[in-house]
Amino acid sequence: MDDFKEFIDELLAKTDIVQVVSRYVPLKAKGNRYWGCCPFHHEKDPSFSVESSKQFYHCFGCKESGNALTFVQKMESVDFMDAVRILAEAAHMEIPTFKGAGRNVAAEREKKKRLCELMKQAARHYFDNLSHPSAKTAREYLERRGIDRKLTVKFGLGYSINGNEIIEYLESKGYKKAEMLEAGLIAQRADSYYDVFYGRVMYPIIDNFGDVVAFGGRTLKPDYEYAKYRNSSQTLIFDKSRNIYGINLLKKRKQQARIDSVIITEGYMDVIALHKGGFDTAVASMGTALTGYQAKLLKNYANRVYISYDGDAAGQKATLRGLDILADAGLSVRIVELPDGLDPDDMIQKRGAQAYQKLLDEALTLPAFKIKTLKKAHDLTDPEGKSKFAVEAINVIRKLSNPVEQEEYINLVQSYTGYSKQVLMRQAELPLEGERSAEAAKVPTSAHVRTAQTAFGGEDKAAIFVLASLAADKAYARFEESPDFLPENGAYRELYSAMQKDYLDGGVVRTDSMFSVLGGEGQALLARVAGYEFLDGDGTEKYNDCVRSLKVRRLESEIERLNSEMGRTANAENRNEMLKELSRLTRKLKDVKSDKR
Ligand code: UTP
Ligand code: MN
Repeated sequence: MDDFKEFIDELLAKTDIVQVVSRYVPLKAKGNRYWGCCPFHHEKDPSFSVESSKQFYHCFGCKESGNALTFVQKMESVDFMDAVRILAEAAHMEIPTFKGAGRNVAAEREKKKRLCELMKQAARHYFDNLSHPSAKTAREYLERRGIDRKLTVKFGLGYSINGNEIIEYLESKGYKKAEMLEAGLIAQRADSYYDVFYGRVMYPIIDNFGDVVAFGGRTLKPDYEYAKYRNSSQTLIFDKSRNIYGINLLKKRKQQARIDSVIITEGYMDVIALHKGGFDTAVASMGTALTGYQAKLLKNYANRVYISYDGDAAGQKATLRGLDILADAGLSVRIVELPDGLDPDDMIQKRGAQAYQKLLDEALTLPAFKIKTLKKAHDLTDPEGKSKFAVEAINVIRKLSNPVEQEEYINLVQSYTGYSKQVLMRQAELPLEGERSAEAAKVPTSAHVRTAQTAFGGEDKAAIFVLASLAADKAYARFEESPDFLPENGAYRELYSAMQKDYLDGGVVRTDSMFSVLGGEGQALLARVAGYEFLDGDGTEKYNDCVRSLKVRRLESEIERLNSEMGRTANAENRNEMLKELSRLTRKLKDVKSDKR
């Protein structure tokens, strides 16, 4: 680890922050400082200063400050390690490999670089092909779909004329067929090779480093026998579950101005049409369920996402899971309801940008969407269907952590079913009017504890479940070394320590005897913990998941804190100490995340 610390020191020493910043912001020297317009709050008069001697930047407008690493992190929307990679590359430095990494990292990186080069050459060539006489059908196709020259250039669209031509071209540039195979560009049949995208309009998939990592290709045949779209296979440089179509443009857009929300669609054409309609933060998930990685990637750009899937697709199980993943990543999720049979592309082409904007304005929150989806799945004119619907809808509501929100959706279910609010509240096991205010005063959490992290709701819920399992002496529950993994606010740690002491003293946890030793907040929490009602699915998996996510949460916020503190620290020795700690925490986070128990 010390190697790593030394490495970062050397990296920062070899990096000239003025040069790094100049790549994004024109700077002018004045006195012993450089000045430019702040890229973080998009201003007109320069109040952003870079001090070369201190290797430090500061904006007098928005108060952002830091070093070369934090600057790259923010500008490129990447995490700490990726920023290290970017600066290391520029400084021609080799990142030391962690213990246990057996692979030859340098060789792999060289290979990836070469494949990316190959893909870029291919993309350029496909693009050039569009001007070729034999690309007439492709040009007509794009025209028919409303894609003009400007959009073609913006998205780098292209055409694969036939099965051989790209092979000959790339060979003339010095690439081997083995490399083309590895890039997923060609395939082998008997002893000949062919372009897998032959005859298709090409959509390059570009990652957030600007590298062409894959292609999507659309057939031009109206009655195609193979897939309408063909996508690159998984390769050394392409992992479908980690990429988002259009992320490269989202990044450029963020460098121009703040992004409030991102629109997630399913398809290439949807993205292009939305950009055409002025919705320039549209991206696509490329027809698959969203992953946690993609959610985190998007969280680097905006806090709100609109899901704009084809009507039938949005309600599918796989998609619903994807929506939860987005919410768990801390994104505010809105679901756009499209008229039956139309996708965003159709909307823009047939009804115009204004009509689409209206749909955005009317987009549903996640709970409202789930309840509406359940409503469609049941026949509410049938008494049995109606009660089933109410029970399932209540299950959605119970998972919400905010009582105001709960109330709102109870009202919605009431309006759909006509059941009284009392009945619905009881079904939800929520305190009824009058009970609520007394209850709320006792409960130490929700107000000051950040929520929405684990698969089981907020982190207060996870903490309560862990404490309740320990208090009930569940077989799957065991004490951790220290209560540090629990939220700092609230009395979680206090109660945990009291329980642990009790356990160590007598082998069991006796919550009744604990009341007297706890403060008021602790007592209120204990009441909640002791009264916890276990559900059917509660067990080892949920317990381990809760502990893990609480740990991850602690580590992540500690890393975040240290990281920004480090950026503000000018003293090299202090920075070294922080860095040491930072690498330790980062490593620990990795361990915790991969700990399957
Ligand atoms: P759609 O079938 O909704 O395509 O698939 P689309 O975008 O509306 O296509 P057009 O308008 O007919 O050209 C949505 C997305 O699912 C993936 C693609 O990413 C596509 O954009 N898909 C679809 C495939 O990967 N393969 C297919 O065969 C079909
Ligand atoms: Mn379409």
